[in-house]
Amino acid sequence: MRILIGKDYEEISKKAALMVAAQVMLKPNSVLGLATGSTPLGLYRELIAMYQRGELDFSAVRTINLDEYYPLAPDDPQSYHYFMNDHLFKQINVKPENIHLPKGNADAVKAECDAYETMISQVGGIDLQVLGIGVNGHIGFNEPHPFLHAQTHLVDLTAETIQVNSRFFASAEEVPRQAVTMGMGTILKARRILLIASGRSKAEAIKKTVNGLVTTECPSSFLQTHPAVTLVLDQEAAALL
Ligand code: GLP
Repeated sequence: MRILIGKDYEEISKKAALMVAAQVMLKPNSVLGLATGSTPLGLYRELIAMYQRGELDFSAVRTINLDEYYPLAPDDPQSYHYFMNDHLFKQINVKPENIHLPKGNADAVKAECDAYETMISQVGGIDLQVLGIGVNGHIGFNEPHPFLHAQTHLVDLTAETIQVNSRFFASAEEVPRQAVTMGMGTILKARRILLIASGRSKAEAIKKTVNGLVTTECPSSFLQTHPAVTLVLDQEAAALL
């Protein structure tokens, strides 16, 4: 695991953006695995700024997101589809047909999950997967549990995640109880992984990610088994290393 520590959120957002930009410049038709949450917002702002300055071209890039709330429709303002459009896609020149997220309101969820896996294989796999991390060590929505799923699946969110994510909703009651997420195997198949973490609330999870036992009770600990992971952390997130 490579660990880069920046002094604050702005600095790590810039470092992360340089890594994504390098990927796109080296391979213009890269498959980028993307994440939601507040952490990647600075990265997305930097990428948009680079695009606006004419430094980056997303016209051949394919994007594949980690997860989506179930059963939210893509046009629901609380959906991750909406979030990604708002914070990134509509502000860069990525082609709509090259954007992929799991459909949160699919009639047949299992078939949707299987189709998502097939689509990832058909585009040649993920070149660079961007990850945030939950305070409980979840990545995507792979929550701490006695066992994990390898492939894209429907998952029950933990009470802790519902509580933490309620800041984006009017109340905790409105947070969906389930989500469709890439599995641990899907994530670990990415050729490179870039995990960004900011703030003291992530320090414990980062400590377990880097130094803890590999355990399904801390899904991010599985990143220790991947050959090309970079963590970009601010000083607070790195405080317990
Ligand atoms: C959500 C997402 C994760 C994300 C996590 C952390 O639960 N499914 O992909 O990493 O939140 O969010 P934040 O970056 O807002 O702390």
